[in-house]
Amino acid sequence: MARRPDTDYDVIIVGGGVIGASIAWRLARNHLRVLLADARAIGSEASTAAAGMLAPGGEFDQPSPMLDFAIGSLGRYQNFVAEIEADSGLPIEFRRTSAIQIALTHTELESLIVRAALQRTAGIPSTVLTKDQLHALAPLVRSDAIGAVHYANEAIVDAAGLMTALRAACLARGVTVEEQSRVTSIAATRTSTRALLGDKSIDAASAVISAGAWSSGINVTIDHHPYPLPRSYPMKGHLLGYRLPAGSIAATIRHDHTYVLQRADGFSIAGSSTEDAGFDRTIDPKIVADIAVRASSLLPALRGLQPESVWIGFRPATDTPAPNIGRVHSSRLWLAYGHYRNGVLLAPATCDQVCREISAALE
Ligand code: GLY
Repeated sequence: MARRPDTDYDVIIVGGGVIGASIAWRLARNHLRVLLADARAIGSEASTAAAGMLAPGGEFDQPSPMLDFAIGSLGRYQNFVAEIEADSGLPIEFRRTSAIQIALTHTELESLIVRAALQRTAGIPSTVLTKDQLHALAPLVRSDAIGAVHYANEAIVDAAGLMTALRAACLARGVTVEEQSRVTSIAATRTSTRALLGDKSIDAASAVISAGAWSSGINVTIDHHPYPLPRSYPMKGHLLGYRLPAGSIAATIRHDHTYVLQRADGFSIAGSSTEDAGFDRTIDPKIVADIAVRASSLLPALRGLQPESVWIGFRPATDTPAPNIGRVHSSRLWLAYGHYRNGVLLAPATCDQVCREISAALE
């Protein structure tokens, strides 16, 4: 692959969440000189806050190019994780646990069945569970649930563990990792990029902006003209972590805006909420109480249990239904942000696309 010895790096990547870190790791694996910069620490924001559901059936109602992208990404997950494990030497919990969307009334079940039929035409497999089948698969679910739709292909990944391993894999592959280092501007042309990292100016053949909710705060010029980036902004979510016996929740349980899933060691995550509250990191006790009530209504075993931990994350929202992924005009700048609720799910496909495009541009 052609290198640019006149630059400090082949690629600078701004933002070390699951998207930026996976792109950095993959490009370094392909023998490019990569700088990964993050304003805080690698994986310290939305990626680590994520519950780690890999759940097209919970997130997409009908066919769309983004759903195809998500299905492709889910199909890639096992290999993606295996490659990061191999490079980092660290295990990553990834399990095809499946997911169950439960119904409490017949009307609700009918509408879940209609939705699932449409989803099946779009490539999301599912089956309908009778009440007995539901309770056999998920004995902790409230006893008056009358049926469910079962998404057998869905999986979960420990997003925090994935980020720890990705950071280690980046270092093992020779990525230069600069933490506590904010990039404030990028000047891109058809042939190069220059980034301002703190008070240092870095020249790289290509640049990627993958700074989640912070992305559009970076000043960009293309061929010396200001380029307004598609807006990014945070949509805060609260999550609660409970300790339950390992193996007590085999499949992710969902109902309306509530979900509960369990890691292999019994740590069980309940979510979530959606607040348009800017970058306010305050944990709101009322929202925590509301999630606790919703989660324990689904799984009565949670009633009376205190969460072991409570945290928030900033989902990286953008104004379009799909994330901003791809090259800006024919400059050397790529965007990879705005994955909103699905950054962890979409990471393998985003990484593939951006790395393919950057590699082709360098040839
Ligand atoms: N992907 C689940 C959530 O954003 O709450």
